[in-house]
Amino acid sequence: MMKTLCVAAVVLSLSSVCQPAPLACEKLLQPVDKAPDLSGRWYAIAISSSCLLQLVAKVILPSFQVEITPKEAPNVYEYILKMKMYGHCVNETERFFHDNNKIFDVDSENASYGVPDVLLQTGCPDCIVTKGADVLNLLTLLSRRKNITAAELKEFETQADCLGWAKPQVLDSDHDLTNCLTEEEEDGENDNRLLSSGLRTHGPVFGE
Ligand SMILES: *[C@@H]1O[C@H](CO)[C@@H](O)[C@H](O)[C@H]1NC(C)=O
Ligand SMILES: *[C@@H]1O[C@H](CO)[C@@H](O)[C@H](O)[C@H]1NC(C)=O
Ligand SMILES: *[C@@H]1O[C@H](CO)[C@@H](O)[C@H](O)[C@H]1NC(C)=O
Repeated sequence: MMKTLCVAAVVLSLSSVCQPAPLACEKLLQPVDKAPDLSGRWYAIAISSSCLLQLVAKVILPSFQVEITPKEAPNVYEYILKMKMYGHCVNETERFFHDNNKIFDVDSENASYGVPDVLLQTGCPDCIVTKGADVLNLLTLLSRRKNITAAELKEFETQADCLGWAKPQVLDSDHDLTNCLTEEEEDGENDNRLLSSGLRTHGPVFGE
């Protein structure tokens, strides 16, 4: 009995020590072989970019979550992007075209167009990493969980580093959308001035 327990303890402690080895650059910059089902809710954990966008994220630190639902047309999905910032909540609905490791914009005929975002490899089991190919080069780590482990975050930092991009900015993890401030509550708040000046300066970044 003692021996069995002992073996079990050793196996358990070994399995907690044996974290999956972090993937190396070569691997981290490859698209995924097979993308997971994107349907459902994802929480944005951190972003990195090749430009100053991150600085903006740091200044107005928002939280993001997306809810993805498949539409009737093949490969077409709708997503609701929900953002919370200084207690205020905003949402936006868009559609995209998903083809395994590529995410395209979709036109009114449900056809894909443009240069796709690419889903990159990640060692995190319930995460996706998207790499934008737009004017705004944006690397985003999303997870089914609101919080990920330090090792998972570290891998994302390595991934950004592999691209030569800035150290990722971890986003706000307050995804509680049940306590959003209303318009009335906004009035007369000091925060509000900061928020609107932030938006005025950085507005286009979070626009289309
Ligand atoms: C595009 O897809 C939507 C949702 O699936 C559908 O309602 C619409 O009729 C489709 N449009 C065309 C032109 O096929
Ligand atoms: C989106 O925001 C509006 C207020 O701007 C709110 O009424 C609506 O319920 C929100 N939708 C979702 C899906 O959260
Ligand atoms: C997530 O991480 C934040 C910051 O480290 C912490 O305050 C929060 O309690 C964590 N939430 C969960 C659900 O672990």
